[in-house]
Amino acid sequence: MDFPTQWPGVFLVFEGIDGAGKSTQIRLLGERLSAAGLDPVLSREPTDGPWGRRIRESATTGRMSPADELQAFIHDRTEHLDQLVLPALAAGRIVILDRYFYSTIAYQGTRPGGDPAAVRLAMESRFPAPDLILWLDLPPSLALRRITAHRGEVPNEFERHEGLEQARTVFASLASDHFRRIDASVDEAALSSAVWNTALPAIQAKLPAAYARLTA
Ligand code: TYD
Repeated sequence: MDFPTQWPGVFLVFEGIDGAGKSTQIRLLGERLSAAGLDPVLSREPTDGPWGRRIRESATTGRMSPADELQAFIHDRTEHLDQLVLPALAAGRIVILDRYFYSTIAYQGTRPGGDPAAVRLAMESRFPAPDLILWLDLPPSLALRRITAHRGEVPNEFERHEGLEQARTVFASLASDHFRRIDASVDEAALSSAVWNTALPAIQAKLPAAYARLTA
């Protein structure tokens, strides 16, 4: 499988544990880009395609074996790149994803018997790296409080907390110039400004005309 590693568009990915506010921030960023006349592509993984649906179903009907689950995410991502992400990037559009292969490293890599370093190697050799990853980071205790408050759910405190803590540790190990940590414990408006200020230089680097419109 040979995916391109460069494109005219801008490939932005949001990562972070459940409850970090990714979907709200993606919506706000998308609205701001649209208001400036840009036409961003917003999508998510697991996708709404056949593999993504199977993965989502497994959350209620019982999880797949670690090996099958990893394969399902790989199939889902391959289709997503082929059918949506790469054609949009080739057309010079801004693509914003809610989760990408860093979630596979953080979640499948920390299942029993998993190895984040091995999953990372497998992901990085198979899938193209985005232009920028925005990691919305907050402590799992706060994430769980938000989940409970917003969705009225009572998470299984012990298991959930431990899983989120492990995922957060993996995300922290990935931080770099391209994988930027953003403090998501602040309020929605402050987080939205931080997201904007982090995303803007990536847009400027690839799409100077779009950047000029956004800052006019
Ligand atoms: P999530 O973004 O929380 O979707 P929703 O809130 O709409 O159900 O994703 C569902 C779960 O999938 C989430 O707990 C993280 C997990 N996940 C992985 O384990 N590996 C992956 O590669 C991806 C993309 C997600």
